[in-house]
Amino acid sequence: MSFKQVNIESLSTEVFSDIGKKWMLISAAKKDGSINTMTASWGGLGVLWNKNVFFCFVRPQRFTHEFTEESDRISISFFGEEYRDALKLCGTKSGRDCDKIALSNLTPFNNNGNVGFAEAERIIYGKKIYAGKLNPEAFLSDDIEKHYNNDYHTVYICEIEKIEEKE
Ligand SMILES: Cc1cc2nc3c(=O)[nH]c(=O)nc-3n(C[C@H](O)[C@H](O)[C@H](O)COP(=O)(O)O)c2cc1C
Repeated sequence: MSFKQVNIESLSTEVFSDIGKKWMLISAAKKDGSINTMTASWGGLGVLWNKNVFFCFVRPQRFTHEFTEESDRISISFFGEEYRDALKLCGTKSGRDCDKIALSNLTPFNNNGNVGFAEAERIIYGKKIYAGKLNPEAFLSDDIEKHYNNDYHTVYICEIEKIEEKE
């Protein structure tokens, strides 16, 4: 496993396909060192409050939510197509019920209180700067509410601290 740090201005990402089609893992560590991860296909990268950020959305019933709430840091990790089954597993099984990271044959590591994976192609490490529940009263399109059963996502906006890519 060997990663190189990438300057954010030279980051090359097809954000719509990288997140929407290839998916990513959202991960966080609790203060006791335990970690969890889940697959996500909604989120993005951008600039806010003069900071480079990523944002992601975690429903309150996810086991991962306990971790993203407790931790100051969240990571998003991207994988090659050969890990599609691992991402499917992490998107259908809960860390509450099994050790899905081991079942996925993924190798997590701690990086400054954040979570990386040896198998990832790219890891974006972030520090939470905003966390809040989506407000359904602010939905301006009729086709949003159908995605929910009163389980509105918590939105996390994270300042990007570091980006690593596989060498
Ligand atoms: C392709 C895909 C995308 C997903 N995107 C999200 C998402 O953006 N937000 C979310 O809360 N759950 C999303 N999920 C569902 C979680 O990954 C899934 O419920 C997972 O089992 C939660 O695991 P946990 O209980 O260990 O946190 C997605 C699942 C898949 C398969």
